Amino acid sequence: MNAIETIFVTDWQAPVAPATAAHALDALEAGSVLRLPLPFVLQADEQSLLSPTLLSGARKNISYNPANDRVQGADGEAALEAQLRGFLGRYHRSTRTLIEHLFAPYAAQLIDGRTSYRPAEIAGRVPKSWRHDDTRLHVDAFPATPVHGRRLLRVFNNINPHGEPRRWRVGEPFADVAARFAPRAPKPSSLKSALMAATKITKSRRSGYDHYMLQLHDGMKADLAYQAQVPKTPVEFAPGETWIVYSDQVSHAVLSGRYMLEQTFYVPVAALQYPERSPLKVLEAVTGRALV
Ligand SMILES: [Fe+2]
Repeated sequence: MNAIETIFVTDWQAPVAPATAAHALDALEAGSVLRLPLPFVLQADEQSLLSPTLLSGARKNISYNPANDRVQGADGEAALEAQLRGFLGRYHRSTRTLIEHLFAPYAAQLIDGRTSYRPAEIAGRVPKSWRHDDTRLHVDAFPATPVHGRRLLRVFNNINPHGEPRRWRVGEPFADVAARFAPRAPKPSSLKSALMAATKITKSRRSGYDHYMLQLHDGMKADLAYQAQVPKTPVEFAPGETWIVYSDQVSHAVLSGRYMLEQTFYVPVAALQYPERSPLKVLEAVTGRALV
């Protein structure tokens, strides 16, 4: 498996050749980052959105919810919000069409997550805590939003107008992360997950899967010796590049960059071509228990 796999798709709307699609799906589910020479071209009236001053307060991103057409995180009046709705809605529709063409087996079961625009520079930002420090290698897992095994599929695009890349590091394969951090994690507690759901700390009950994914996320970030020693591949995404990642599976760190778009989709394990490679199945094998 290669850390980065280039897929020659250059159009958001066009059908994808079957051989290209099969190769892309195999590489994605194996845990590669797919890199596409596919720019998201801004319209003339969207150029004014290339400014970090759009952000409200200390926020690092503007988010859009395709389910209710609402924008959060922007500082401004109704006209700006309408402009952001149009821009981010267009990114959502473009990425959805791309994913449906590239990964046809997912099309019927693909669930929309949020669209995110990150105009601010990552380098030099002081995170709220080590848990929020995305310059450390991690797999994505979010404390308040349990996924019960569903995959986090993310489509990124660098729209930087100054020629600056987005710089990442990619770490070791998921099976190695799981083998290292899951055995030392505490066991999930059904009492604790019921209490967190009842008190609205979590949006639904945290499954055993969510518990272990958070333990991996935190265990990786907290272990500075691991961060220093684990093999890592540096990668730069140039302006005009799209990259597609299962961010719950690919160990990644974000070092620098600004002006990036990201669309999240949720994919049920049942829709996968190779479910045995999913974090759910890998963690169930490592822990010897059913996790959803
Ligand atoms: Fe992440």
